[in-house]
Amino acid sequence: MAQIIDGKAISAKIREEIKEETARFVAQRGYAPGLAVIIVGEDPASTVYVRNKGRACEEVGFYSEIHRLPENTQQSELEELIDRLNGDDKIHGILVQLPLPKHLDESAVLLKIDPAKDVDGFYPFNVGRIMIGDFDIAPCTPYGVMELLRYSGIETRGKHCVIVGRSNIVGKPQAMLMLKADATVTVCHSKTQNLAEICRTADILVAAIGKADFIGADYVKEGAVVVDVGINRKADGKLTGDVNFAQVEPKASFITPVPGGVGPMTITILMKNTLKAAEVAGDALGAF
Ligand code: GUN
Repeated sequence: MAQIIDGKAISAKIREEIKEETARFVAQRGYAPGLAVIIVGEDPASTVYVRNKGRACEEVGFYSEIHRLPENTQQSELEELIDRLNGDDKIHGILVQLPLPKHLDESAVLLKIDPAKDVDGFYPFNVGRIMIGDFDIAPCTPYGVMELLRYSGIETRGKHCVIVGRSNIVGKPQAMLMLKADATVTVCHSKTQNLAEICRTADILVAAIGKADFIGADYVKEGAVVVDVGINRKADGKLTGDVNFAQVEPKASFITPVPGGVGPMTITILMKNTLKAAEVAGDALGAF
């Protein structure tokens, strides 16, 4: 029987701390941290995420703007909006919801964002800072995973962490954060041979694959910590992770459920990153 890592409860605790810190920020500086979220098109999952991001901003006391652009938005229009937000003093964080429609050049869009306002941690300069372990902001989902482990009292030092998935949003930055936290890290992906065998060597297994119920009991060592980053929708409309919960839960020592595990943390960390970006921007102003 595994202990369930309650991402909703941990997330609520962190949001309460952010709310208090934001109140102090506003009292000291006379303005609120500001986040701009841009969504292009009407992808149903992205639409829900963006709505939740707006609500989270309200909850913690941020200023926020949501820019909903039509599916047929041109690259130049999107880049002009980012330019405008880069120059807007009310905005300390800019998030362009991914994936973008196919006709848009995602890398070029992300390069337009002022690195100081890149609350996703996707700008190449910020990716480099993650790599050398000197950063203010880390990508929301992997940072959320680290916070879940920390709040659950799970030690990473010296542990073998196997990450399944090598995306720029989760797998690669997760590996860097785990290394910084003194774990020994293996990154696996779709071409990995003997995947189940490698996964069975994990003390901490992070699944970020994007395939419903992929990780079965034969991928998990008795007593392992299992973190499920996947959010997949089944034919019946229900959400499920990358881990077959019913099979894996009896073997794991700790496990994150889907929904209610990693998911709630992602937006909470976005709030943390936005507050941090506002603090850094404010401190830079104070230095002159
Ligand atoms: N789409 C899925 N996850 C993310 C994320 O963390 N940031 C952005 N910008 N888009 C996403």
